[in-house]
Amino acid sequence: MGASIPLRLDGSPRDLRGRVLRDLRISVVDRCNFRCPYCMPEDQYPRDHEFLSKAERLRFEEIERLARLFAGLGVHKLRLTGGEPLLRRDLPELVRKLAAVPGIDDLALTTNGSLLAAQAQALRDAGLRRITLSLDTIVPETFRHLSGGRGEVDAVLAAIAAAEQAGFRRLKINVVVMRGTNDGEVIALLEHFRGSGHIVRFIEYMDVGTCNDWRHDQVVPSAELRARIAAFWPLVALEPNYGGEVARRYAFADGQGEVGFISSVTEPFCGDCSRARLSADGKLYTCLFAGAGHDLRGPLRAGASDEELAGLIRAVWSARDDRYSEIRGEASAGGREHVEMYAIGG
Ligand code: GTP
Ligand code: 5AD
Ligand code: SF4
Ligand code: SF4
Repeated sequence: MGASIPLRLDGSPRDLRGRVLRDLRISVVDRCNFRCPYCMPEDQYPRDHEFLSKAERLRFEEIERLARLFAGLGVHKLRLTGGEPLLRRDLPELVRKLAAVPGIDDLALTTNGSLLAAQAQALRDAGLRRITLSLDTIVPETFRHLSGGRGEVDAVLAAIAAAEQAGFRRLKINVVVMRGTNDGEVIALLEHFRGSGHIVRFIEYMDVGTCNDWRHDQVVPSAELRARIAAFWPLVALEPNYGGEVARRYAFADGQGEVGFISSVTEPFCGDCSRARLSADGKLYTCLFAGAGHDLRGPLRAGASDEELAGLIRAVWSARDDRYSEIRGEASAGGREHVEMYAIGG
């Protein structure tokens, strides 16, 4: 290993709908220091809830090995997620390993920001180039509510400043919009970030996992939100950065930056979904709404060869038929057996 030539594992597999595998989201820990009601409601995840043990979680070397195999199958983009990924000790060490994987040209992190200020420079030095932060509102009381009483908006704003200081630019700020909770605060949020160079992206509240009591009337369709924003600041549609991009991009017509909309409820984007997800305990999920994952840790720890593991991943991807967001509500969408969001990081 160590050469800069990607491991060749006979090209990228296609799933049953012809979709290639390009993007791997790696959850490094299932714990979180927040309790966002749309993901991990406090009443269902009290402080003594049992999460994965250290032995159950993949070690950094195991993650690196799998990342190399995925890269050999066509993955060029990795995103580290959680739970809250910065709760995993020595995360920069993993970043350093993954940044060196041949074939990976994009390495990103999704974090709630609460622990980022202290680690931003080390992550940058280790080779991380892109950060996405979750920040649902700029209003302190609403922020407290949406973090389950565990976070402060000022800490996230300080983290953004620290990330800028460390050299990160064009941060993505993810906002889950819930009607009646934070949808009245999006203009204030945009007012704060317009002109900063960072990109705010509004995500339709989704029925992920099993515990958020999702209701359709809590979803604010992106079209509605876009119209509300455009009444303040006219918007101009932009071309996607790449095929299969999740967010629809818009520019403020007055040149004050970019805003995005992720509309998985009202405008699903399963058609070109090239994303696989690896949980912290080494299960491969082919959809955010999958009921079960495919165990890679077992074979990995039982001594499977690179070829065997790659064959397993290829077989799982080749049998993939997921398109949950397109069939949500139909009988064929299945019951409420969904993997939890904090186990696969969104
Ligand atoms: P970029 O590489 O910056 O384009 O990132 P991204 O668009 O993958 O962004 P990010 O990982 O921040 O995803 C934003 C949010 O979009 C996630 O937290 C999910 O809520 C949602 N999302 C991302 N991928 C999928 C997907 O495959 N299906 C669905 N339904 N939602 C998704
Ligand atoms: N609907 C939409 N987005 C969600 N996220 C977590 N739960 C949900 C949900 N129910 C998002 C978070 C974060 C990312 C990890 O996933 O806001 O940006
Ligand atoms: Fe934690 Fe992110 Fe889930 Fe909120 S959405 S509880 S920050 S993992
Ligand atoms: Fe991909 Fe599943 Fe999301 Fe559709 S619902 S875009 S198949 S992860």
